[in-house]
Parts: sequence; structure tokens; C-alpha cells
Amino acid sequence: MGQLNLSKESWSSQTVFILAAVGSAVGLGNLWKFPYITGENGGGAFVLVYLICILLIGVPVLIAEFLLGRSGGANPLQTMANLTRRHKASKLWWLLGLNGVLAGVLILSFYTVIAGWGVAYFISSLQGSFDQISSDAVGAHFSGLLQSPYELLFWHTVVSIATVMIASRGVRSGIEKAINFMMPGLLIILLILLGYATTTGAFGQSFSFLFSPDFSKLSWEAVLIAMGHAFFTLSIGMAAMMVYGSYLGEKQSIIKAGLWIAAADTLIALLAGLVIFSIVFANGMEPGSGPGLLFQTLPVAFGQMWGGVFFGTLFFALVVMAALSSAISLIEPALSWMEQSWGMKRSKAAWLLGSVIWFIGIGTVFSFNRWEDFDVLGGRNIFETLDFITTNIMLPLGGMLMCVFVAWVMNDQVREDQLKLAPLWMKLLVFDLKWIAPVAVMVVFASNLVAADS
Ligand code: PHE
Ligand code: NA
Repeated sequence: MGQLNLSKESWSSQTVFILAAVGSAVGLGNLWKFPYITGENGGGAFVLVYLICILLIGVPVLIAEFLLGRSGGANPLQTMANLTRRHKASKLWWLLGLNGVLAGVLILSFYTVIAGWGVAYFISSLQGSFDQISSDAVGAHFSGLLQSPYELLFWHTVVSIATVMIASRGVRSGIEKAINFMMPGLLIILLILLGYATTTGAFGQSFSFLFSPDFSKLSWEAVLIAMGHAFFTLSIGMAAMMVYGSYLGEKQSIIKAGLWIAAADTLIALLAGLVIFSIVFANGMEPGSGPGLLFQTLPVAFGQMWGGVFFGTLFFALVVMAALSSAISLIEPALSWMEQSWGMKRSKAAWLLGSVIWFIGIGTVFSFNRWEDFDVLGGRNIFETLDFITTNIMLPLGGMLMCVFVAWVMNDQVREDQLKLAPLWMKLLVFDLKWIAPVAVMVVFASNLVAADS
């Protein structure tokens, strides 16, 4: 307990490493965020762009990020400094690490608030509040929660403390056991919910909402949001996976890990979407109702189905666990940096960081009530601004720079040693990292700037 776990032997097996990385990837992004941004952006076409981004940008960047981490072997800033020296690159590359540290802290500041909603729902479900509940009553329950800033603040505090306590014990000891039953548990409950969804009479409508694209609904902003979400959901572009990669043994396969993680993450998001939109359409609700979507829909299902109190309570417990296993990866870049490069004690650094994150999070707490209409950036309140800047700018920018480093700065030898890919696949991957992924990010950025101007 509490030891550093920095040696290359840290991950006892490929499975454990994959568990931790899947734990980072699968989180609120899949269950809470994917459905509501899909609803806000019109469904099918948005989902298609998101899937294309996962395949052409997400998976390659995830692989590149693991490669950088394992090859550099330390916290993000130190990793970039090590790699810069080895490959005689510009000293400025440490900024890529700094971007990750900052993005992690900013994302975590709202992530803990939303995870707090999950804790509140866990308690409500346990008390039987959702038994036989109507969709209107769920809506009222949710607004009641949002209208109580001190309750939100309380749960935000609880989640922040839990994150700090788990993170101070080190990545491995915190998550191995938990994720072992969390992932299968989540999958089973989602499949049960899927069964329920087919009985609502709106499953077909949900399916076509997600999978029949209508491109007239697609703006450049929606493309940016879909692309940003591909980064967010895979935990890439901010060096969390880079840190995890630095713990990965030389013999383990980066490619296999990357593919498994992306597949599991995508599956869970799509399942959540199918279930949630079935409930939306069956109850005449609004798909674009925003960040409350998960919390306004699922209780209806749990309220009606057999064993709903049990499954509902378990589900929200799993949501909170999934959020915590992502939260500890969000804090890890900053934490490992303070620990290794500033020489701080891990637990002290964790409490310090946790306090900063908690404080910034107050802005998000009030973004759902008192400061809802407080305009920080182009009509966005504090929560929306933090989300936009991190997910849609910092992560894609970080990911793009990682592609550039792996494809343009590193050489064939390093890439081959790390990835051990067949020549054709290697050519395709390097081509993607050299051209497709970075150019796609730049085109989407540029189109948004132009669109915003006109
Ligand atoms: N991937 C996580 C999710 O989907 C969020 C996250 C983003 C975690 C970035 C770490 C880094 O919920
Ligand atoms: Na995810």
C-alpha cells in the first residue's frame, strides 16, 4: 500500500493493465455524456462521426499514447523530457505533458460533481424512491437535486475525498479488485436494461435514432463535439494513458490493449444510448434535454421492472465506481508529476490537488442553479466552458501532438520495438498518425473557427 509502483514490473499481467486502462476509459463519458450529447446533436449522423473518430483518430492516438508512456517511462512531463533528449527534439515538448496535467485537473473538477449526482441517486434508489416512479416524478426529483446547491456541494465533496483517498494509495492497489467485478456487473445490468428497453415499444425508434444518420442536422460544431468526445471517452490526449503506459511491461501488447479498450468502451456507450433513448421515446421525453438525460430516464426503467430497486441501486453504485476508476486516472498525471519531479509525498500531493480540484468544482456546482446563465464563453456557463475547453480543445490538441511526436519525431526502430506490428499494419498506422489524425483535428478546429466567424 502507498508505495510508488513505478517500476516496469508493476503490472502483474496484461489483464491487470487492461483492467486499469478500461477502468479509466469506461466512466461517465459512456453512461452520462455520450447519450446526452448524442441527443443534443440529433442522433445518427453525430454517432457515425463519433465512431469514425474512434476508429481513425481514437485508436491510433491511444496506441501512440501507450507507446510514448512505455518508451518514456515516467510522469508526462518527465516522459516528454526523456523522449526529447533521446530523440534530440525541441525542449518545448514538455508543454504536451503540462497540457495533460492541466486538462486532467480541470476535467476532474466537473467530473466529481456529476459523479456526486450518481451518489445521490444511489442513496435515493436504496431508499426505494424510484419504485413505480413516473417520468414526470423523476424529472421533478432531478430538478430538486439540481436546485439544492448545498446538496450537490456535499456529494461533490464526498467524491473528491474518495478520489484523493484511492489515488493516494497508488494506481494499482486502488483499482485491481474493484474493476474486476465492476466491468462485468455494468455489462450485465446494461443487458438487463436492454431487455427492458425492448418491451417499451420504442426500441426500434431508439435504434434508428442512433443508427440512421441525417446529415442535415450536422454542424461543424457537432463534428467538433463528436471528435472531442472520442478523446474524452478513451481518456486520450491528456497523458492519463501515457502514465498507465509507463507502468506497462515490455512484453505486453500495446496494440491488443488499445483495440480491446476501444471496443469495450464503444460497446458500453452504445448500449447505454440504446437503453436511454428507448425510455426517452416511450415516455414522450425530449432527447436533447441535456446533462440530466441519464438521471431523468433510467429511474423510470428501474421503477417499472422486476427487481428494479435492487438493480437500480446496484447500477448507480457501479456508475460511481466507474466514475472513481476514471477519476483516479484523471488525477494521475498531475499526481505522478508532483511526486516524481517535485519530490512531494504522494498522499500530500493528492490532498493538495484534491483541494484545488474541489475548489474549482464549486463553479460547476453552481452552474446547475444560481449561475446557470452566467456567460463565461460564447453563451457557456462555467461547467460548459470547462467541458468545452478541455474536451474539445485541450484533448484533441494534446492527441494531435502525440501523433506528431510518434510519427514524425520518433524513428521506425523505436516504433517497431514497441509495437511489433506486421509491416502492412505498421505502414497504415504510421500513415494515419502522420497525416490522417493530425490533419483531421486541424481541419475540424479550423472549420469551427471559420463557422464561428460567419
Ligand atoms: N474516459 C473517461 C470517461 O469516459 C473520462 C476521462 C477522460 C478519464 C480523460 C481520463 C482522462 O468517463
Ligand atoms: Na469512456
